[in-house]
Amino acid sequence: MKILIAGATGSIGRHVVAMSLKMGHEPTALLRTPRKSTLLPQGVKIFHGDVSIPETLSGISDGIDAVIFTLGSDGKGRIGARAIDYGGVRNILKTLKKRSVRIVLMTAIGVTDRDGVYNRETESHDWKRRAERLVRASGHPYTIVRPGWFDYNKPDQHKIVMLQGDKHHSGTPADGVIAREQIARVLVGALTDHEAKNKTLELIAEYGDEQQDLTPLFSSLLPDSVEKNDGVLDIDNMPLDSEPPCIIHDLNAMSQ
Ligand SMILES: NC(=O)c1ccc[n+]([C@@H]2O[C@H](COP(=O)([O-])OP(=O)(O)OC[C@H]3O[C@@H](n4cnc5c(N)ncnc54)[C@H](OP(=O)(O)O)[C@@H]3O)[C@@H](O)[C@H]2O)c1
Repeated sequence: MKILIAGATGSIGRHVVAMSLKMGHEPTALLRTPRKSTLLPQGVKIFHGDVSIPETLSGISDGIDAVIFTLGSDGKGRIGARAIDYGGVRNILKTLKKRSVRIVLMTAIGVTDRDGVYNRETESHDWKRRAERLVRASGHPYTIVRPGWFDYNKPDQHKIVMLQGDKHHSGTPADGVIAREQIARVLVGALTDHEAKNKTLELIAEYGDEQQDLTPLFSSLLPDSVEKNDGVLDIDNMPLDSEPPCIIHDLNAMSQ
C-alpha cells in the first residue's frame, strides 16, 4: 500500500515508517520540520506540509491507499489539541475526496475521560475523541487505536491485549503500557487486516510473549455501531447535542 504517515517524525511515527517498509509498503512521510528529515530512513518519500495550514496539504493524498495518523500536539494545550489532534485529522480527511482510503488513527487510552485534570487543562482527550468521530463519519474504512503509556512496559511484558470501552481512567501507567514498536506493528498491521475494519480499541501489553498473528485479536473485537459515533462500548458522556455548532458542521460535512 502507498501509505501517508501524518506524524512520521514523532516517537511513534518513526516506528510506523520503519514498520511500513518492513511490511513491504510504500510510506510517504508528512514532514513539517525540514531538519527532521534526518530522522527518516534514506529514500523515504517526503511530503512537506503543516496539518494546521490546509493550503500546504494540496495534493497530499494523490495516489495514496491509506493514511496512518500519529500526530501529537503535546505541550501546546487546548489550542494545539484543536489545531493538530483534531484540525490536522480533519484537514487531511478533506483532501481524500470520494475515493475509499484505509484510515488508521492513533489516539490514546483514556480518551473518553473528560473529568481528569489532564483533559480539563488541555482538552486533549475531547479533541482527539472528536477526531475519532470525524474518521468514523468519513465513510472510509478505519481502525482507531488508543494505546497505553509508551514504553512503560517491563522487558517481559509483550503480550498484546486489545480492549474496548475505554474503562481505564487513572491517567497513569496503571491504565496500561505498551512498547512503541508494538504500537507501530498494530497500526500498520490493521491496514491490511479485514478483521480490524471499523473497530475502535485500546491497546496495551501484559506479561508474556508477543503473538505472531494479530488477526485473532482483531476478530475478537466488536465493530463500531453506525448509529453511535463513538467506540462501540464507550461511555456516552459527550452527547452530540451538547457539542459546539462548528463540530456538528464538520461532522456533517465529513459524512456528505
Ligand atoms: N506518551 C504516551 O505514553 C502516550 C500514550 C498514548 C497516546 N499518546 C499520544 O500520542 C501522540 C503522539 O505521540 P508521539 O510521542 O509520537 O508524539 P511526538 O513525538 O510529539 O510526534 C508528534 C508528531 O506530530 C507532528 N506534528 C505536530 N504538529 C504538526 C503539524 N502542525 N503539522 C504536521 N505535523 C505535525 C510532529 O512533527 P514535528 O516532528 O515537526 O514536530 C511529529 O511528527 C500524542 O498526541 C500523545 O498524546 C501518548
